Amino acid sequence: MTIGVYDSGLGGLSMLRAIQAQLPNYGLVYLADTAFCPYGPRPVGELRQRALACANWLIAQDVGVVVVACNTASSATLELLRAELPVPVVGMEPGVKPAVAATRTRRIGVLATDGTLTGARFSSLVKRFAADVVVHTISCPRLVTQVEAGDLDGPATRNVLRDYLAPLQEQGVDTIVLGCTHFPFLSPLINEMVGPGVTVIDTSPAVAQQVARVVTALEAERKVAALRFATTGVPEQVAPVLARLWGSAYPIEQAIC
Ligand code: DGL
Repeated sequence: MTIGVYDSGLGGLSMLRAIQAQLPNYGLVYLADTAFCPYGPRPVGELRQRALACANWLIAQDVGVVVVACNTASSATLELLRAELPVPVVGMEPGVKPAVAATRTRRIGVLATDGTLTGARFSSLVKRFAADVVVHTISCPRLVTQVEAGDLDGPATRNVLRDYLAPLQEQGVDTIVLGCTHFPFLSPLINEMVGPGVTVIDTSPAVAQQVARVVTALEAERKVAALRFATTGVPEQVAPVLARLWGSAYPIEQAIC
């Protein structure tokens, strides 16, 4: 079986990497909705339209599962996709629960997009799991831009990150949640800036385990692992950043959806 994965852009490659580590024998198709990136500031209605378009494009590629490798899209569209699609859908949410388990100062920080932080799913998550913890949220649109540009540790990215992290450091936060799939690409830099006393939470391994549970429950036949990449943007522009983030160059197809 082939697993379909989509995100607004290339950030979801962090999720794809975790899925490939869990399920090395499955085919993977990754769709970057680059023509509509970033998702963070977009209205819910538009995110829902894009979710249906991207998921249906993946289903046309014969995938047996759709993974929404995007916290923003998951927040706005999971119920709709689960109601509409003929295949199981796995989504994600910021790792508030593991952060609450890890914090000693009872102060956690969440880096995410506006869409994720203002969504009903996030307030319910905080209410359920972090009622007795101080949760500092930071909307970080400029980090999405830096990762989409393939700038993971240059001076501009360092400056942007310093601005976003400063209030968390001032507040004595000891646990930081990466609530956007673009941000694990900045983990080395974030760890360097906050130091060893701060735990940085990336939920992609846990979500990949959930994908593995869903895929193995379907008992689908394994086949030779193929890996395909596509974008709704301009493939020639996306290809160099894909090579940088994925670690090796791959052809990237044009997706029309
Ligand atoms: N990677 C996305 C997320 O996990 C969305 C970033 C964006 O397009 O604004 O939220």
